[in-house]
Amino acid sequence: MNKFYTTTAIDYVNGAPHIGHAYEKILTDVIYRHFTQRCQDTYFLTGTDEHGIKIQKTAAEKGITPQEFCDINAQKFIDAWKALDIDYSQFIRTTDKQHEEIVQKIFKKLVEKGDIYKHAYKGLYCSGCEAFLSEKDLTEDGLCPNHMRKPEIVEEENYFFKLTKYKDAIIKHIKTNPDFIVPSFRANEVINQLENIEDISVSRVKSNVSWGIPVLEDSQQVIYVWIDALSNYITALGYNPDGESSVEFNKYWPAEVQVIGKDILKFHSIYWIAILMALDLPLPKHILAHGWITIDQTKMSKSLGNVISPTSVLEAFNLDIPDPFRYYMASAAPCGKDGNYSDEDFKEKVNAHLANSMGNLLNRTLSMLVKYFEGDIRPEFLEENELKAQALETVKAVKHHFDYFEVQEAAQKIIELVDTANKYVTDNAPWSLAKDGQIEKCGKVLTNVLQVMTVIASLIYPYCPNIAGAMAEQLGYDINTKLDDITCESLKAGHLIDKENIKPVFLRMDSELADKKK
Ligand code: MSP
Repeated sequence: MNKFYTTTAIDYVNGAPHIGHAYEKILTDVIYRHFTQRCQDTYFLTGTDEHGIKIQKTAAEKGITPQEFCDINAQKFIDAWKALDIDYSQFIRTTDKQHEEIVQKIFKKLVEKGDIYKHAYKGLYCSGCEAFLSEKDLTEDGLCPNHMRKPEIVEEENYFFKLTKYKDAIIKHIKTNPDFIVPSFRANEVINQLENIEDISVSRVKSNVSWGIPVLEDSQQVIYVWIDALSNYITALGYNPDGESSVEFNKYWPAEVQVIGKDILKFHSIYWIAILMALDLPLPKHILAHGWITIDQTKMSKSLGNVISPTSVLEAFNLDIPDPFRYYMASAAPCGKDGNYSDEDFKEKVNAHLANSMGNLLNRTLSMLVKYFEGDIRPEFLEENELKAQALETVKAVKHHFDYFEVQEAAQKIIELVDTANKYVTDNAPWSLAKDGQIEKCGKVLTNVLQVMTVIASLIYPYCPNIAGAMAEQLGYDINTKLDDITCESLKAGHLIDKENIKPVFLRMDSELADKKK
């Protein structure tokens, strides 16, 4: 694999980022960083979804223009992702000029192709979903099941997209590519939805929704926010519907994986795929639909007052690096399943895995090498060894999990290796070997562990880039080593560990301090 393009959903800016949004960005960042360790050329797109009636109404309530409102809130997402070290290549906003112009051209192209037509329509619109719902989607009380709100009756003459024309081709694609939708258990859900699919309205009358991208040759209509939003994945790269696209587009499209939440799978595996088919563009290789994050097993909602912002977690626990939160979120749920956040569990898990197991192991081993051998890896300490063989097996297993976007499962493998290395130290008790004068054996044990720690640093890097960087620095190891080049021999004979450099890479989170700060 030479190139790797990944995207996230773009977040609505009607509020501030919460840990559900953060979960998706962290998951994607971990996947992106892992594949950056395997590919020459990688690209990561994220951003914000800024048009639509919901934004228009909230801005009006606040007495500011929609653009001002978007500017304020988009910045909150940019700031949050910076605090979490989300290493995106590009942050797209759907109010970017380039995006708006390309969306208009895409719409025009679909009209010219005969895939978009005008049609009078009456339907039920939920502004929370930014989508028309049918009677059978509603609860017994006639409410949108996601937002528990009564949808508005909308009667307009709109443009419609011939979704039905692509129904059979999409079903065929899903059936012949069982790994297209990840996890595959969601594919049936999509096929069932496809059975009852109808053409969709892809514009709104400007007098009802003014905050949107105008249809080029019909100024009374604005383009439906989902068509606008979905197009971001190609407008960001510089797709040109009328001629030659940019170098970036030609290099990166199609995406290897598009990461989204399970609630918006229909939009991505049906609407988006149909648009791409209509534009004669190749389809993304995989769509990863992750599960939802609950708080203390409860759905996050403004009305329950349990919405947590990711930066408030970093502040509450007095964290100067986001690594523990990244690690916790990235391993919160098996691929595609729901996960949960709780303060207690967060503290317990990262203290156990990152501080006690991984951090301590490195610190103890480096300190012993300095104490017994002045930090010197002597030639006679290098040997073939079972633990090192196991580390290389773990690299293979981790790669395999990432091939299926199993981010939690890969983290488990890494921690298993850390546990095995800890057991190896306990079983071999290098401190006793030193005391008994078994100097060479002691040096071998410590060197084997440190060689394995270089592998662990590389493997944990996508989750914990700062901690991995600190580990690598103390070990004198190049953290940019590609996964294919990993060996257990990077610490050569004569390698010197600098004792001035040795310090804990991650301290246990101080629960008293954290509780006091809250
Ligand atoms: N703007 C649309 C996406 C357009 S993509 C072309 C949207 N925005 S959103 O802000 O509501 O959600 C953004 C992403 O965050 C979605 O993938 C959604 O599934 C995810 N999450 C929102 N709340 C979540 C949780 N509580 N847990 C995990 N992910 C959640 O939908």
